Amino acid sequence: MDKPKVVLGVSGGIAAYKACELLRRLTESGHEVRVVPTASALHFVGEATWSALSGNPATTEVWESVHEVPHVRIGQSADLVVVAPATADLLAKAAHGLADDLLTNTLLTARCPVVFAPAMHTEMWEHPATRENVATLRRRGAVVIEPAVGRLTGVDTGKGRLPDPGEIFEVCRRVLARGTAEQRLDLAGRHVVVSAGGTREPLDPVRFLGNRSSGKQGYALARAAVARGARVTLVSANSELPDPAGADVVRVGTAVQLREAVVKAAAEADAVVMAAAVADFRPARYAEGKIKKRDGHEPDPIALVRNPDVLAEISADRARPGQVVVGFAAETDDVLANGRAKLARKGCDLLVVNEVGEHKTFGAEASEAVVLASDGTETPVPYGPKEVLADTVWDLVARRLA
Ligand code: CTP
Repeated sequence: MDKPKVVLGVSGGIAAYKACELLRRLTESGHEVRVVPTASALHFVGEATWSALSGNPATTEVWESVHEVPHVRIGQSADLVVVAPATADLLAKAAHGLADDLLTNTLLTARCPVVFAPAMHTEMWEHPATRENVATLRRRGAVVIEPAVGRLTGVDTGKGRLPDPGEIFEVCRRVLARGTAEQRLDLAGRHVVVSAGGTREPLDPVRFLGNRSSGKQGYALARAAVARGARVTLVSANSELPDPAGADVVRVGTAVQLREAVVKAAAEADAVVMAAAVADFRPARYAEGKIKKRDGHEPDPIALVRNPDVLAEISADRARPGQVVVGFAAETDDVLANGRAKLARKGCDLLVVNEVGEHKTFGAEASEAVVLASDGTETPVPYGPKEVLADTVWDLVARRLA
């Protein structure tokens, strides 16, 4: 099979250096990459770097190799165009159909999926002109990844950072895998909330009650939703995974903090997926000082109190009509019977039931599940990567939202 052809557009921002890492990921995973930098991108990273890393010439202007008509051919033959970083200027040109260099010509001739990964100062990202350009590009079927929050050029911090190149690569991989625009972008215009990871309930300044959730399933759900065009809020409890590109990440520690963040984000969400392992109980008392062992004394029992059940609460009290709520259930015995009872008890629309054991589900790269629906249907998901389960969940959610 031919290698998938990817055009990596690079516009003139300091984050251009991070596109080298994205390029490396793309070529190493078997993609044929053609880098099309703008003239200003070459101020940051030179032509020699792009051609050495891609194994192809990196051309900026339409006037080079004119007989090969690169201004038309490169876009026409691409399977994916990704622009990283995309500056405010490049987004404006793309939204208005300007074509004054090879990259903008390529964007006009491409009929394949297009991903923009913007990076700029917060003020530029928030400017109404940029907002409208981004909305235009999204309406036309492009995936515009929300920038990350953090350190910008110089001393500034805020929203506008280019997400981690490995995470932009993940978006590209998923977009490439998902066929036509209607199939690909079935969550466009939707806001979804995903909780991930496991809560920690502090006992004293050095100890907590926790669980073994890694956050991998929730992060896979967030990544899959970004690639399908959704606006994603990821409420992450104690996960060490890198932020998925394009998701707004809210970090929490305890079940009470997670509840607050999920309920707040759910107020304007089309779907809420509770993949987090939320502690059902927390220590009744938090010891301000470290609990010490005392010679000759048995340890005091740890009294626990109930935590709020976030899934049951948002299922019972839907923030908007038609909101789809999804829960997860990790069971060790009578998996399906327990799952059906839990679906009814929690009142959600879908419940993903996994069997758990020492090496199953928690921390693993793959899992096996059955998705139970409140209408009685059951969708088995065979053992496989967590991203396949994530896409099955979104298939079922998208069908309910449509
Ligand atoms: N959940 C929640 N709030 C809690 C506990 C769990 O929102 N306090 C959510 C989880 O995110 C998951 C689902 O509920 O989506 C299933 O959690 P589980 O702990 O298995 O359910 P329980 O009702 O605690 O059932 P049991 O203790 O009988 O296993």
